[in-house]
Amino acid sequence: AAPVITIDGPSGTGKGTIAGLLAAHLGWHLLDSGALYRTLALAARRRDVDLDAGPELGRLAAQVRVQLEGERVRLDGEDVSAAIRTAEAGVDASRVAVHPDVRAALLGWQRDAAVAPGLVADGRDMGSRVFPDALLKIYLDASPEERAQRRYKQLKDKGMDANLRDLVQELRVRDQRDRERSESPLQVPIAGIVVDSTSKSIDEVFLQVRDLAEA
Ligand code: CDP
Repeated sequence: AAPVITIDGPSGTGKGTIAGLLAAHLGWHLLDSGALYRTLALAARRRDVDLDAGPELGRLAAQVRVQLEGERVRLDGEDVSAAIRTAEAGVDASRVAVHPDVRAALLGWQRDAAVAPGLVADGRDMGSRVFPDALLKIYLDASPEERAQRRYKQLKDKGMDANLRDLVQELRVRDQRDRERSESPLQVPIAGIVVDSTSKSIDEVFLQVRDLAEA
């Protein structure tokens, strides 16, 4: 099997950025598993599938065709890259993600992404459940205030609407749901290395993670 490095952690820790930089540095593939959950949530909204209906969502997950190519995400051929990046899509994603049927349906899809020369996988349960035998497991963390600030800046930079107070609140709701769900709750994986990114620049965090990857 191809080598895998996992990067897990809550929203706004810079996970996605670090995972992208590391994948580019190593010349490996990148799996943004959150994009998968976001896309499924969008598909459910469009087809009027209840976001609390686990078995139905599980069936939907097996039906839809999702393609992740770098920053671009396609749902049944349509480019949904921007539509899945809104704050609402993030909250919707965390709702569909609580269902065991959904997580089970996406498991094989995610594992299939581990192809040569290697994979950097970004998510919540990459190290704990999807790739328990990963070569290296990173858990990125940061204070809630800093995470909300970063997400705010990210949305603003993309020209999207954002309100800091709403973001703090959404982050809290999402964190709680991600931590407390019964299946694959957000947690430091066994043999995971915690990297705290509070008050660190992306460059500093990247160097730290790169050194771990090359150790
Ligand atoms: O980076 P951010 O946390 O904003 O979003 P994301 O990584 O795209 O994930 C969105 C939501 O999908 C998370 O809040 C989780 O509820 C869910 N998710 C998950 O359950 N498992 C994963 N491996 C990745 C995301």
